[in-house]
Amino acid sequence: MSLKKTVLCVGCTVIDFVTINASFPEEDSDRRCLDGYWQRGGNASNVSTVLQVLGARVEFFGMLSRADGFRVLLEDLRKRDIGVRYCPQTDKDPPFSSVILAQDTGSRTIVHCNKNYPYVTAEDFKRIDLSAFGWVHFEARCPTETIKMIQAVVDYRSKCGDELIISLDFETLYEENLNLCDLCDYVVLSKDLALKKGWKAAQEACLGLERDLIQHRPAIICPWGSDGAGCLDSNKNYRDMGAYKANKIVDTLGAGDSFMAGFIYATLYRLYSLSDAVDFANQVASHKITNFGYDHITELK
Ligand code: FRU
Repeated sequence: MSLKKTVLCVGCTVIDFVTINASFPEEDSDRRCLDGYWQRGGNASNVSTVLQVLGARVEFFGMLSRADGFRVLLEDLRKRDIGVRYCPQTDKDPPFSSVILAQDTGSRTIVHCNKNYPYVTAEDFKRIDLSAFGWVHFEARCPTETIKMIQAVVDYRSKCGDELIISLDFETLYEENLNLCDLCDYVVLSKDLALKKGWKAAQEACLGLERDLIQHRPAIICPWGSDGAGCLDSNKNYRDMGAYKANKIVDTLGAGDSFMAGFIYATLYRLYSLSDAVDFANQVASHKITNFGYDHITELK
C-alpha cells in the first residue's frame, strides 16, 4: 500500500447521545428509552471511522477540545488509529447531538448543539504536509475558510504535480457553499438539501446543481435513500445506481457518512469507475443500517 492512499478528512467531530426508542416520543412526555449509548459523531469524523473500518488509512483534521467530556472522543480516535496530529485545540466544550432512533419507522432525529464551537481555519490548514495524502475530503461548512483550504490543495496539486483528489460533502446552506463545488473533483449532494431546493429525484438534483456551477468540473453524486443514488460525471453522463435492500433497519444514523466513506474507499483503494464506486457506496450505506454504530461494516471487506 503506498503512502499516497491516506485520506485527510476535514470537518467536525461531536458527541452523539443516542437513545433507542420503540417509537418517536410524544412532546412533553416523560419516558424511558429501550437502550442508549454515546459515540463519536460528526460528518467528517464518521467518514473517518468508516474509512478506517473498511481498511483505509485516515487522518482527521478538525477542532479538538481540551474539555473533560471530549476525552472519550480522543480515546476512540486513538484506539481506531485515526491520526489527529494536525488538529488545533480549544478549551471550549465540544458540540454534541441528541439523537432519537425510532424503531417503528427506522427514523433518526438529530438535534445538534454547536454552541459557537470554533471551526478549523485556513491558517491551521497550512501546517498540514499535503504530500502525505492521496485524497482530501471536506465538509461544506464555514465557506470563507473552507474555500481557502480547498484552494490550498488545488495550488499544491498544480505546483507539485501530485495526484490528490478533492471531495466535498454538501449537506447545508446551498447558496453559501455553492462556490466550493467548482474546485472539487467529487461533490456529494445530500437528499435533504436537494429536497430543500425543490428537486424531487437524484437526476433532477445532479442536473440542477450542475447548472448552478460556473466551471462544471466535479462529478456530482446524489444519494437518494432507499432509491439508491444518482451520479453525473464531468462529461454530463448521468446514471442511476439502484439501492441494496437492507434485510433489517436498525440504525440509520450516519448512513450518509457511510455512503461517503464507501465512495472514497472504492475510488481510491479499488480504483472503481464513478458508477461502480457509487454502487459500492450504496452497498456500504445499506449494510450500515442493519446494525448500530459502524464496526459491523467490516463484514463487507
Ligand atoms: C450523522 C452525523 C452525526 C452528527 C450529525 C452532525 O450524519 O454526522 O454523527 O451528530 O450528523 O451534523
